[in-house]
Amino acid sequence: MKIIESAQAKINLSLAIEGRYDDGYHKLNMIMQSVSLTDILEIEDYHKGIKLIMDSNLDLPTNNRNLIWQAADILINTYPEKIKGLKINLTKNIPIAAGLAGGSSNAAAVIRGVNRLYQLGLGWSEMRKLGASIGSDVPFCIKGGTAQVKGKGEIVEDLKPLKGHHAILINPGFRISTKKVFKMYANGDYEKKEIFTDKLINLIETETNITWKESWANQLEPVAFNMYPELEEVKQWVINNGALHAQLSGSGPTIIGFFNNKVKAEKVAEKWVNKGRAFVVEFTKGY
Ligand code: C5P
Repeated sequence: MKIIESAQAKINLSLAIEGRYDDGYHKLNMIMQSVSLTDILEIEDYHKGIKLIMDSNLDLPTNNRNLIWQAADILINTYPEKIKGLKINLTKNIPIAAGLAGGSSNAAAVIRGVNRLYQLGLGWSEMRKLGASIGSDVPFCIKGGTAQVKGKGEIVEDLKPLKGHHAILINPGFRISTKKVFKMYANGDYEKKEIFTDKLINLIETETNITWKESWANQLEPVAFNMYPELEEVKQWVINNGALHAQLSGSGPTIIGFFNNKVKAEKVAEKWVNKGRAFVVEFTKGY
């Protein structure tokens, strides 16, 4: 028994920070979007325990520090009669620690894939609950698409799919720790662009033409720009090259440049010869 499950990356159309919980986590209000940049997971039955296979050049742990491993472990412990072990082979395309939820989307793919492989009969909300204990972005990544994500990430409200949008994702080739960015935010005093999340949701729900001139923003952006000033130059570069809008994804370092024309986005991506990589993606409706 073996199945193939894809894991789509996510971008943040908006990210607002609305407070802090007693445990130090931040209260978020975000609009997230899944995109066509995907990892591939081959999931199969295994006689005992967890076997995780991936390219050794990836520089990712293959033990319990890997979110794929954590998802597999939760599933084996929750359904010991059905699942004795899991063998998972990962083909990675999404940059690591990039603000694109690569690890979270992989964990979500394990939950979806195992649900299918063993016919566990779990619905979206049950799978999201299982995912919430693994990481803040996992509940969104279970179903993907376009959604409002609140709280620590565990409250996901699906929105109408956004169609016909393209983006270029410029990943400058280094990793950023999300924990570190939130810590800097908590200890600093950064510019806070106002984000009218409800208005943005209204645009999506009424299928109003999105121009990217609305108040889309990411309140973690000034923190990441302060840590890595070159990111601001990347943002300016994409705008100078015709993006309708550009901003940081998640805690970075990936910069999203929004386009409504794929050919134009591809031409700009081809021009990116600096450090890292540029990907052209389209918005997807998720799973
Ligand atoms: O949940 P996850 O492990 O992906 O989060 C990484 C780190 O980001 C957490 O350890 C926490 O420091 C920070 N975080 C936060 N508020 C959130 C989500 C994450 O402060 N809502």
